[in-house]
Amino acid sequence: MSETRGCTHDRAFLTCTIVANAPLFSKPGEGLVTEMAVGWEGPSPQPGQFFMLRLVRSGFLLARPISVSGYTKGLVNFLIAERGKGSRELVQARPGEPIELAGPLGNTWPGLLAQKGNREDRSSINLDNQKPLALLGGGIGIAPLIYLSNYLEPDTFHFYGGFRSSPYGLESIPKEVLTIATEDGSAGYHGRIPDFFNPERYRAVYACGPAPMLKRITELCSQAGVPCTISLEERMACGVGACLGCTIRTTRGNRRCCADGPIFPAEEVLFDV
Ligand SMILES: Cc1cc2nc3c(=O)[nH]c(=O)nc-3n(C[C@H](O)[C@H](O)[C@H](O)COP(=O)(O)OP(=O)(O)OC[C@H]3O[C@@H](n4cnc5c(N)ncnc54)[C@H](O)[C@@H]3O)c2cc1C
Ligand code: FES
Repeated sequence: MSETRGCTHDRAFLTCTIVANAPLFSKPGEGLVTEMAVGWEGPSPQPGQFFMLRLVRSGFLLARPISVSGYTKGLVNFLIAERGKGSRELVQARPGEPIELAGPLGNTWPGLLAQKGNREDRSSINLDNQKPLALLGGGIGIAPLIYLSNYLEPDTFHFYGGFRSSPYGLESIPKEVLTIATEDGSAGYHGRIPDFFNPERYRAVYACGPAPMLKRITELCSQAGVPCTISLEERMACGVGACLGCTIRTTRGNRRCCADGPIFPAEEVLFDV
């Protein structure tokens, strides 16, 4: 075991410390959502990348993949939604607890220089086309798009957040570029983003969320001839391309979501929903 500036290093995992884990949303039937901050002295994550997370005290063999929702030097942020046993353990973790992180893993949104640590280079976004970008997040799928938005000038993108009920986690998105939709109509547009989204207003669409939403957005973008890129949240085991547990079907054959993605050109993905 070796030491890497505050985190202890054991094989692919660094043992780090949870600095904060604040509840953002909680509702019976929908579970708890928290924003977790972890002390991180490893490589800078790029927008779209994820980490495999596991509490040191966890009884689970497998870590869980969680997207980066924010990063400042020395601190990485995650939005975590309670779904099952693994994510419940993460949302209930307390500040000061040790946590194992492997990453940053996966590819990045297209249009960004893939240079590690080049966080300040905003010129890497191609803005030749005058239309804005559309960032579409469904539920916890907002996480990788929030981090992407940190790299964009506010007048270059519109952000759409879709939720079952109350929205959460969007404080950093300027109100003038934000559209909210809720299925119960309690905030913003009453319905789902694909019910009203018009891709023709945009030069490109970046989306993450439930598979049915991504499938419908892919269809809308295809009909409008607008490039669409999606981030998939497949179930994962190893997270590094070794087990094939996250295989998805594409027009170019089978792909591993963790090692070949999680970001794919939407038109290549063959949805199973
Ligand atoms: C690249 C990537 C990035 C992700 N980013 C985030 C993130 O930023 N925040 C976050 O909260 N979650 C994220 N996820 C999803 C998260 O990893 C899963 O919710 C978590 O692993 C579920 O583990 P569990 O033990 O809680 O659930 P389990 O006990 O394994 O399953 C509980 C229930 O959830 C369902 N489920 C499990 N995994 C998924 C999934 N991936 N998609 C849909 N349903 C699922 C199961 O079918 C089951 O019904 C991401 C996944 C991937 C692949
Ligand atoms: S999770 Fe093992 S190959 Fe992707």
